[in-house]
Amino acid sequence: MKSLVVYDSKYGNTEKIAKAIGSTLSKSGNVNVVHVEKAGITDIEKVEILIVGSPTQAWSPTPATKSFLESIHAPLHNMPVAAFDTRFKRTRLLTGSAARKIAKALKKKGSTLLAEPESFFVTGMEGPLLEGEIERAKSWAKELAKKPQ
Ligand SMILES: Cc1cc2nc3c(=O)[nH]c(=O)nc-3n(C[C@H](O)[C@H](O)[C@H](O)COP(=O)(O)O)c2cc1C
Repeated sequence: MKSLVVYDSKYGNTEKIAKAIGSTLSKSGNVNVVHVEKAGITDIEKVEILIVGSPTQAWSPTPATKSFLESIHAPLHNMPVAAFDTRFKRTRLLTGSAARKIAKALKKKGSTLLAEPESFFVTGMEGPLLEGEIERAKSWAKELAKKPQ
């Protein structure tokens, strides 16, 4: 199984989650964890699972994440995908969720969502992550790896 985890991160929290997801997925195959500014469409073409994560900023994915999503022109042909974000642990009506917008954009490109968009929580603007979030990210990734591709 070849997985690609694409992430953006201003303060490092989303990067930590992306790396935890990557380390779990690496137990079932080849994984690349790539910063969104270094990810290109060529990376995507050969992957079997694509995971995209971003901090939630102003209810949305970061501008770089949005540009990356917009750069995907070719249909994803039911490619299995999943989306995650980091954000404050409050009702989603107040915080918004980058993951939901990422998932929506990926679905529009013709992919298949492997799981509901997931959020991992920070305790403040710059973090740190709430206790247990790295483990929760690993469990989430473990479930993704079990899903039929
Ligand atoms: C410009 C800006 C806007 C933000 N807007 C939101 C928001 O709408 N909802 C939310 O829950 N958190 C918001 N946050 C907090 C971020 O989600 C938090 O900084 C992020 O999870 C940290 O991840 P990172 O370390 O990967 O950058 C915002 C942060 C910044 C810097």
